[in-house]
Order: sequence, then C-alpha cells, then structure tokens
Amino acid sequence: MSELFLIILAYFIGSISNAVWIGKRFFHIDIREYGSGNAGATNTFRVLGPRAGTVVMILDMLKGVVAIQLAHLLPYYNQPEHASQLMNFQLALGLAAVVGHIFPIWAEFRGGKGVATLFGMVLAIQPVVALCCVGVFILVLFLTRYVSLSSILAAIAFPLLILFIFREHAFVYQLFAIVIALLVILTHQKNIQRLLHGRENRVSLFKKRKS
Ligand code: G3P
Repeated sequence: MSELFLIILAYFIGSISNAVWIGKRFFHIDIREYGSGNAGATNTFRVLGPRAGTVVMILDMLKGVVAIQLAHLLPYYNQPEHASQLMNFQLALGLAAVVGHIFPIWAEFRGGKGVATLFGMVLAIQPVVALCCVGVFILVLFLTRYVSLSSILAAIAFPLLILFIFREHAFVYQLFAIVIALLVILTHQKNIQRLLHGRENRVSLFKKRKS
C-alpha cells in the first residue's frame, strides 16, 4: 500500500455524496434539482428537513475523519518520530476527501461545498481550532442568519487562527489552511453573488410560536 493509493482512496471516500444518496434512496429526488442545487447538508436541511439534514451533516463530517485515519494504515506514520510527516500526510488525505466531496466521482462530479467534510478532518486533527471555527460560524449565523456567509467567514478564520492565534509553524499546514479557505470561497461563488444582490436565503433560527 502506498501514499498515492491512500490519497486516491480518500478521494473516493470524499466522493460518497450522502445528500444525493439519501435524497434518491429515501425521498426519490435528486437534491441537486432543488433549493440551492447544492449536494450538502444545508440544502438537505432546506429541502428534506432537519432529520435528513442532520444525517447528511454527520456523514459528511465522518468522511473527513475517516480519510485522515487512513494515514495510520502505513506503519511509518505510526512512529512518534514521524509526527510531522504524519500531519502532512493527513492534510493531503483530508484535502483529497474535501476535493472528492466537491467533485464526486460517484455523482457526476457535482457535489457539495466541502464545509462539513473539512470541519470533520480539522476536528480530528486539531479540535480546538475546529471549535473556534464553529464559534465563528455560530456567531455569524446568529447575527446574519446566512449559512453561506457563516461558512465563508469560518473558513477564512481557519488560516487566520492558524497563523496568528495558534501560531502554527508548519509551513505545509499554513499553506493547507490558506488553500482550503480559498477553495471554500470558490465553492461559494454563487452564494456570494446572491449575498451581494440581497437574494441569499436566510435560515429561521427560532420557530415562531403559534398563538
Ligand atoms: O456549506 C454550504 C453552505 O455554506 C451553503 O449551502 O445550500 O445555501 O448553498 P447552500
């Protein structure tokens, strides 16, 4: 087994499009034809409801967690003196899974925006950083009720936290964080257009009570 094989495997795992699969299997629709057209947890919440949305979110996060665990299949990376190489390889595996989520080979290369899978992998590598990003996400969501803007700002917070708060010195990690933030901005291009034109969907955080 080689690094390349595991990176391809991570891409295949990332390519499992849970939103598409659950939509087709249980609701007989292609989620990409409804709502924002995105094959991700947010659109599943929007179109198929909170239960399906939660399942998709958890499964999409798990793809990131599982992908980075593949590194441990190679004994070299399990040796304590190879800790920094382990981190680099895990970043490559995580990136492959996120790319798989966005361009899934099993779903005509039309997937989601990579946020949940990215969150899963960062949570598994550096939980404190991931939780800080969640903090940014929740704060922006609470203030604006835009999931997309919350995702974008949480993704931008990721390299900023790495560089200026946690002062992570590993160059590969810094590069990864910057690349991933740009990737998330790129996948949210349509959302950015809608935000700029005041046409983006807002979520209702609190259900109004029936009087
Ligand atoms: O993570 C995706 C979210 O930021 C936006 O999803 O469906 O509103 O485009 P959506």
